[in-house]
Order: sequence, then structure tokens, then C-alpha cells
Amino acid sequence: MTEIARIDAAVDAIDAAAAGLRPRLGIVLGSGLDACADALTNAVDVSYADIPGFPRPAVDSHAGQLRLGTLGDVPVAMLRGRAHAYEGHHMLDVVRPVRTLARLGCTSVVLTNAAGSLRETVGPGRLMMITDHINWSGLNPLTGPNLDALGARFIDMTAAYDPTLRDHLCSAAGRIGLDLAEGVYFWYPGPNFETPAEIRAFRSLGADAVGMSTVPECIALRHMGVRVAGISTITNLAAGLGDGSALDHDEVMATGAAMADHLARLLSAFAREAADVL
Ligand code: HPA
Repeated sequence: MTEIARIDAAVDAIDAAAAGLRPRLGIVLGSGLDACADALTNAVDVSYADIPGFPRPAVDSHAGQLRLGTLGDVPVAMLRGRAHAYEGHHMLDVVRPVRTLARLGCTSVVLTNAAGSLRETVGPGRLMMITDHINWSGLNPLTGPNLDALGARFIDMTAAYDPTLRDHLCSAAGRIGLDLAEGVYFWYPGPNFETPAEIRAFRSLGADAVGMSTVPECIALRHMGVRVAGISTITNLAAGLGDGSALDHDEVMATGAAMADHLARLLSAFAREAADVL
């Protein structure tokens, strides 16, 4: 089976469950942010187990469910749980769910994640709008024969995080009184957290936050011409910063979960602000 046929089989399975809803906005929820799905109304859930070709996320904080519904007046498809490279998934599996959202009709996708901050002034509990990213992983979801049906071989990444969507995110944050930081996201594929020396190196390269996801999806979506926005929930100061204490996955998850409410408010305000361009 070709990759395009795999994606289209997933689209067909979702279409059959969608009760006529045609999502225009996709949202990918990062680790610990599952509660954001409560913001959708008229929700229909489809388990990843019922969507052919969808990888099962192994991180237990992830639901592994697609939720269709509306956010404000905008029809939305929300991925609750993603597959990560560190689980051993092939890059094609990692990006198949977002490619499926694009083939379903989503012309914009908001990618969210949990991230460590490289700036002491942007600490745990803050939300950071991603302005750009750095991919130094050596991995790329577009490696291999180009999928011509999806996009071109060589793609521009000058404005990978869409300026118009970013403007709407900023005004949505202003409207709800949320202090939204901005910065560059560095993809570190994990699964170990970084060493302090790596964090110092990433900082000198221009990174503001570091995390283990989002970049492959952004690249795959830009390949398809989909507009991308990104939001990091800052769950911790990166390794070696702050008081230098050890990083702990459970603590990171707990901080992220406590921020799900803020993120849900921002996403709802964004859907209202940006409705005309979505
Ligand atoms: N590093 C990488 N990924 C993360 C971090 C971090 O400090 N925090 C949450 N996800």
C-alpha cells in the first residue's frame, strides 16, 4: 500500500464517523494537555485504534483519540495524543495523523507541546507562541521519495509558523489577558532530557524552548501548504537552569496538566479571533 493510500484509508474511516462535520482547523494536543479537548462542543470521538494506519501513542498521558467538534463556530479535528520518534515510530507514522487532518480539509493546524524553557524569565506555567524552530536532529519526515501528491520536493520554511495565525494568537491572548511569550522551539528527539551542556549549546544557537515533538509535524504540514501555528506550554526550566534540580517526567506532566485550562482558553479565543481566515 502506498503512503497516500494509507492516509486516504484513515480519511475514509474518519469521514464515516464524522457525521458530516468537515473540520477546517486541526489541533494537536501535547503531553498532559488532554483536558483541552473539553473545549469542543458537539464532540464525536474516534479511537486511533479504529483509524487504519494511526500509530498508538505509548505515553500514558495521551488518550489516543481523535475528537471532532466545534470551537466557537469553527469545525475542528483534535488529535489527543501523538506518536514520537523516541517510541521507535518511523517518521512516516509520526506525521501520518497530521497529514490525515490536512487531507480531511484542515487548512490550518495548531501544534501544541510541553517544553522546557531556556530563558529564566519565561518559567514554568507560561505559554510560548512558537515563532520558528530549529531541527538539528538529523531526522526529517520528508526523507525518502517525495510524495508528489502532497507537495514539492524542496519547500520553503521562511515563515513556517504562519504570520497571520501568529497575529491572531497574540490578539487572542491580549483579549483574555494572557501573558504569551514568544520564541524559537528546538527539537530534541529524546527520550532522555538534555544535558546542561546541550542546553547551553542550544541557547547559543538561538533556542528559547526545547521539546521532543512538533517539528516533524510542522515540516509535513508545510509540505502540504497547510498553515501552522505552535504553542509550547513551559513545564520546566531546561536542564542546568534554575536551581539545577533533576528533571522528572511526572512533574513535567503535572505542570502541563495544570496549564491545560489556560491553553483551552487561548485556543477558544483564537478560534473566535481567526474565524475569518480559518
Ligand atoms: N526537554 C525536552 N522536552 C521537554 C522538556 C525538556 O526540558 N520539558 C517538557 N518536554
